[in-house]
Amino acid sequence: RKASLQISSFVSKNCTIMSVETAKKIAAYKAVDTYVKNRHVIGIGSGSTVVYAVERLAERVQNENLNIICIPTSFQAKQLIVANKSRFQVENEMHLSDLENHPEIDVCIDGADEVDCHLNLIKGGGGCLLQEKIIASCSKQFIVIADYRKNSSYLGEQYKNGIPIEVIPMAFVPIKNRIEKRFGGKLELRMAIAKAGPVVTDNGNFILDWINFKHNLKWEDINREIKMIPGVVETGLFIKMATKAYFGMQDGSVKEQD
Ligand code: 5RP
Repeated sequence: RKASLQISSFVSKNCTIMSVETAKKIAAYKAVDTYVKNRHVIGIGSGSTVVYAVERLAERVQNENLNIICIPTSFQAKQLIVANKSRFQVENEMHLSDLENHPEIDVCIDGADEVDCHLNLIKGGGGCLLQEKIIASCSKQFIVIADYRKNSSYLGEQYKNGIPIEVIPMAFVPIKNRIEKRFGGKLELRMAIAKAGPVVTDNGNFILDWINFKHNLKWEDINREIKMIPGVVETGLFIKMATKAYFGMQDGSVKEQD
């Protein structure tokens, strides 16, 4: 199938309102069209917005005979790359690789749960924060793609599912108690659908979601302090990591933030 940018929208009074899916798509396409070059090593993020980025990547690989190398940030991302390789018959040009073979990444394209006015992020809504942060940290440029709902002035302004913290399973209770006592708010063990048990990450760990945290905290210090707690593997606070964010807006434009 030839992927084309189909704009789904509806007209309300005199203005056109884009759907959230279209907003994700236009942000993803803009990022891929702006940053991806032939022979690039690309970090592929996780989540629903990245689906459009990989779709566009595959389309460009096919149409422009690009040769690119993709490094996934999760099981989902890996499957996405494999599915698009076969769908677009670009077996030889869209390579799947890893950090052992390609430790330096040209550009990483990933979604976010919330982006503040300083380009600090909450990530990990899909539970992939650890590998996402590793890949982002190995990338020369880290580009965020999101719809307009993620564009906030401060962390926690709109996103209410909390800051994910990936932890070693046997330590989740002491970690929860320590963070609540030190910083306030509440940490909840992320549970699978129908509360069948805790969510287990791609790395075999649990996730604590830190909700009702205070706003405008010194996130860099807090991130460092939380990471020092034994048993904490990684946080979903991506502080001063992003190069640029693209937001698909309701009016069909793409807002840039750097
Ligand atoms: C997964 C993530 C995602 O990038 C984040 O949750 C955004 O997802 P989506 O594009 O579906 O809104 O951090 O761990």
